[in-house]
Amino acid sequence: MWRKIWFETKRIRPIPLSFKCHTAPDGALQQNKQKGSVKDKVRKTIKKQRAFCSAVLNHFDHQYSEELGDLWPSARAVLLDPQSWQYGVMLNRFSAVTDITQILLSLGFSSLPPQTDASASLCYGASAASNSKYEEGQDTLLSPHHISKCPPEDFSLQPDTTSQDSLSEFTLSLPHSSLRCYIHPHPQRFPSQAHRPGWLKQYYLLNAASLLPVLALQVRDGDKVLDLCSAPGGKAIAIMQSATPALLCCNEPDPHRRDWLSKTLESFLPRSLNSRVIVSAQDGQFFGHSEAGFYDKVLVDAPCSNDRSWLYSSTRHQGEQRLKDRARLPVLQAQLLRSALSAVRRGGVVVYSTCTLSMFENHAVVETVLNDFPEAELEDLWEEIAVPLSKYFTFSPHPACGQTQPKPSLLPLNSRLGILVVPQPGRTWGPMFLSRIRRK
Ligand SMILES: C[S@@+](CC[C@H](N)C(=O)[O-])C[C@H]1O[C@@H](n2cnc3c(N)ncnc32)[C@H](O)[C@@H]1O
Repeated sequence: MWRKIWFETKRIRPIPLSFKCHTAPDGALQQNKQKGSVKDKVRKTIKKQRAFCSAVLNHFDHQYSEELGDLWPSARAVLLDPQSWQYGVMLNRFSAVTDITQILLSLGFSSLPPQTDASASLCYGASAASNSKYEEGQDTLLSPHHISKCPPEDFSLQPDTTSQDSLSEFTLSLPHSSLRCYIHPHPQRFPSQAHRPGWLKQYYLLNAASLLPVLALQVRDGDKVLDLCSAPGGKAIAIMQSATPALLCCNEPDPHRRDWLSKTLESFLPRSLNSRVIVSAQDGQFFGHSEAGFYDKVLVDAPCSNDRSWLYSSTRHQGEQRLKDRARLPVLQAQLLRSALSAVRRGGVVVYSTCTLSMFENHAVVETVLNDFPEAELEDLWEEIAVPLSKYFTFSPHPACGQTQPKPSLLPLNSRLGILVVPQPGRTWGPMFLSRIRRK
């Protein structure tokens, strides 16, 4: 089995010197001295207006007003205002120990998930040890004035980042994790870090909702993990922050995206992990047949409509083409989920996630696959993730917040099959759907 994986995969390769960073979200800043100061770059980014595609917006209006009820108008407002979007900063435990945490805290960022003092010091200890063992590094020249500032959208909906009770109040039922992510109540952006040969990047910028599927996966040291749809590698990096699996197989069939994935892995992980982290090039729909029952944990972060970026399709034609693709995606997604359920061992878990609000790609896919997989058992993420983190993310449906519910006919489907993060003013994280299935 192992050999087969090895032959069908390739080791991650050294990064070419000309590599440019692609790992940050759209519009994130590049630190590039030759093209002007970071401050100049910040201003340019803030001024830039993006045109949305009306064909896609009309489609969303039609579908999401039905599926999300009163949550849709505010979610729509966030999606149409990229300047309100927030970014999380996930620290890289393998890079040099730095003063970045202090900078983040001084700027009003707070830890997500909240860290107890004990777990924070455990993490620092691990980080320092990791660094001295793996890589020589120094701090980058990052200071608070490198951060872009945008006006807050709505103070009333923002989490209280100064509240100390949050440290003990929201304890996820997870082992002490070395995953460290910082979020800010306002849309403040750190500049992304350019690749520098011999250095590991210190942090990864991301939509903080992207961490939820990784938290739901509950990777432990020594697990064999498959990241079935892996490029560009954000969740693979998050997995490696949270534990040290015996094997992390990052699968990506698209050659260009696989290159991007390899570069991400090389920018964040020390070479000493190369034997544990491998890159595979299979069509994920068939992975489960070739590696049946081999993995403890499988993440299916499926190709999906990607509401945030599809809304900004560059032409009407592209938008319309994407809407046609959207209709076909559930078939592929269900096939990927079936394949993942075959790849996981009995007792192991599969997490299915997307970054669309669409029920057809979320709840309906999970329900379809469960119907023909009697060994699969849904697990409740509501109590485990949605309740403890409801201060930071808006989940749908969310009875505790008194939101108007979507159509009653959609409710049972909604709450049972997975949790959905809906972007809202002041907490613009998402869209992100996640569902966890255990193979009995
Ligand atoms: C949402 S992205 C994954 C993002 C990634 N997990 C991360 O966190 O950076 C979905 C990925 O699935 C890949 N994909 C598309 N078809 C696939 C297939 N048949 N099997 C496996 N992956 C596929 C796409 O190329 C894309 O890179």
